[in-house]
Amino acid sequence: MKILVTGGAGFIGGNFVHYMVNKYPEDEIVNLDLLTYAGNLETLKPVEDKPNYRFVRGDIADRTFIFDLFEKEQFDVVINFAAESHVDRSITGPQIFVQTNVLGTTTLLDASRAFGVKRYHQVSTDEVYGDLPLDRPDLFFTEETPLHTSSPYSSSKASADLFVLAYHRTFGLPVTVSRCSNNYGPYQFPEKLIPLMIARALADEKLPVYGEGLNVRDWLHVYDHCVAIDLIVRNGKVGEVYNIGGHNERTNIEVVKTILKALGKPESLIEHVEDRKGHDRRYAIDPQKLENELGWKPVYTFDSGIPETIQWYLDNREWWEHIISGEYQDYFKEMYGEKLQ
Ligand code: NAD
Ligand code: TYD
Repeated sequence: MKILVTGGAGFIGGNFVHYMVNKYPEDEIVNLDLLTYAGNLETLKPVEDKPNYRFVRGDIADRTFIFDLFEKEQFDVVINFAAESHVDRSITGPQIFVQTNVLGTTTLLDASRAFGVKRYHQVSTDEVYGDLPLDRPDLFFTEETPLHTSSPYSSSKASADLFVLAYHRTFGLPVTVSRCSNNYGPYQFPEKLIPLMIARALADEKLPVYGEGLNVRDWLHVYDHCVAIDLIVRNGKVGEVYNIGGHNERTNIEVVKTILKALGKPESLIEHVEDRKGHDRRYAIDPQKLENELGWKPVYTFDSGIPETIQWYLDNREWWEHIISGEYQDYFKEMYGEKLQ
């Protein structure tokens, strides 16, 4: 099989490329990535010389380029990770989220139709369901939960999901969609909560916690996400949505304190800053469909995955120190300048 993975120089796509290249030596994995600020070829170093792996630089929203590529390569499977993925950036600049997440997805869908792709998989997020109240721990997102987005990011992802499902209903394109909860693990860009807090704590810098820090996220190790996507692409039912999550809910303040404790740093580094606009309160996935239909079970709990992840950032300083030494400095000033005294 020839598989196109888009966004494979990013966090989850990069982990997925590692997983697939090693697990399926008989398959050909083509990684298409624009290498935006979030894309990093260093992440692909461990697989770049493998015979079943290739990298192509390009934009999923560039129609001419995408149609040429699909015509030349004749992919069997397309798995779309490529996206603008950070909620805070979508608040300061929503337009690129429409461009990449919506137009990019519809461009891939059109090319998949035109060149007879046998399976198109859309990597989506639980954020399309909006949020749950903090005082109702009995509520979870199921695949039937209505879409009810809060941020420009989640709105662009929900829009893309609707196009994917419409291309199945209208044109019979063989699609699946997965909606996963928050991921953590190796190679995550240090703008997201966990790597940001690790990097700043190690430098004895203040840790910016939005509001009270009582918002809840449902954390899944990226490895378990990769296994789930592989299962859905191979065995999932066409036209279906699958939620992915492992029941690992934590408040943000709990996560930050866990990181500080593991690194032996004082809680006095925590600085409560102005809350994110429209901040979703709680995400929590009901993964029963994936477990019952496809037999998926996560191997990590948050308690087993987080020490291993912290150790990875300690062992791979070069990977993230390289990132935070560049234009990232300007990003931090722009995002947190007024928030962090
Ligand atoms: P990321 O920001 O780390 O990586 C995104 C990658 O896409 C980067 O390599 C970037 O260069 C590439 N890219 C951006 N625009 C592109 C374009 N126009 N053409 C080609 N490539 C482009 O994101 P991530 O955290 O790895 O997320 C991957 C996917 O998983 C996204 O679709 C995201 O919505 C979804 N998701 C993320 C999480 C999470 O917790 N991070 C959870 C659930 C779902
Ligand atoms: P993030 O990693 O951006 O993921 P998402 O917004 O997609 O859930 O943020 C996770 C949680 O951490 C979210 O509730 C916002 C919060 N947060 C902070 O408190 N401080 C920060 O500096 C960041 C980046 C996030």
